[in-house]
Amino acid sequence: MKAVILSGGSGVRLAPLTNTITKQLLPIANTPTLFHILELIKEETDIKSVCVVVSEDYGHQVKDELLSSKYNKHFDFDFVFQDKPLGLAHAVQITNMHIGDEPFLMFLGDILIAKEELKKAYEKFKKDNSETLVLLKEIDDPRPYGIAEVDNGKVTKMVEKPQNPKSNLCLSGIYFFKPSVFYAIANIKPSYRGELEITDAVDYPIQNNKKVSYYVIENWWFDIGTPENMIKANEVMLADLPNKISSTISSTSKISGKAFIEENVSIEDSEITGPVIIAKNTKIKNCKLGPSVSIGSNVTLENSKIDSSIIREGVKIKHAVLSNSIIGKNVEFAFNPESVNGIKTMYIVGDNTKCMSL
Ligand code: DAU
Repeated sequence: MKAVILSGGSGVRLAPLTNTITKQLLPIANTPTLFHILELIKEETDIKSVCVVVSEDYGHQVKDELLSSKYNKHFDFDFVFQDKPLGLAHAVQITNMHIGDEPFLMFLGDILIAKEELKKAYEKFKKDNSETLVLLKEIDDPRPYGIAEVDNGKVTKMVEKPQNPKSNLCLSGIYFFKPSVFYAIANIKPSYRGELEITDAVDYPIQNNKKVSYYVIENWWFDIGTPENMIKANEVMLADLPNKISSTISSTSKISGKAFIEENVSIEDSEITGPVIIAKNTKIKNCKLGPSVSIGSNVTLENSKIDSSIIREGVKIKHAVLSNSIIGKNVEFAFNPESVNGIKTMYIVGDNTKCMSL
């Protein structure tokens, strides 16, 4: 069994964060989403060969990150460049030569799921012997997603982003395919939005009386394609981190709840409420941090209050009150001291931005 991970696409819903980096490399709990996915595939399947579909714009960034990661020792990587985001089924189609004639796992590169779910779905796919097995998640409003209608253990219909969904089971973005999917893709037409839809490719065998089975994810699942979802996913993943403090914290600071603090972090006159993760070489002075905050390496925070946020590497923040924010690499915020007494503010800020009070 091989895997295909889709890491192309445009990431417009996450702009300006995606003006300098592809969304699949944006960190959740200080680790890129793609690495969380590779960790799951490594731990929960016997897959050793991974084909990654990348865009022309960010393909080299993804390739460099994966080839220089610890995962390059475990997996054989192939990279396939998709010149335009022509749809998920198009992305699968161009991996045909790399996959050959064997079943494969397809994982959208912007999806996170709890541990053990992939393992259970893989076991079910092997047992079911169906053309395709889709992982589904029951959600309140499935309109932004593909949905599956099911009956008697089988998928009976798939619809992409329906206005009036007849089911609340959304397609999670994780699929197990037999190679017959390449035949199905060759037989579908682009949708109204000009894309070759994977939902149509999965629907093709159903319409031809072949079995498509499903597995319903029991635990958490996130599509990190919007800032709100990134922040929620960060919150859930932080709660799973172990409590580990690898720096000496000054006696004038207080830490409560779970904290994962790397080496060479200095925390003075501050109150930290877990869960939080703080990467190495970060300096924190006179701050209230947490819960649910990820801080990258080489960050300086002074006289600020931050909760439910993702702060990336090299950021400098003075006198700010942030909540539900994502702050890109090397951003500088320097506000007046009075702003700390003001209301909480949400910022989604791209890399290298400067915001100063005059
Ligand atoms: O999140 C689950 C949903 O993912 C499913 O419910 C939908 O059925 C499925 O179509 C998909 O919808 P999205 O609107 O979220 O797809 P998105 O454009 O975000 O693309 C998903 C991933 O695939 C993302 O990592 C980018 C990559 N991609 C996307 C396109 C359109 C490619 O690599 N190439 C492409 O052409």
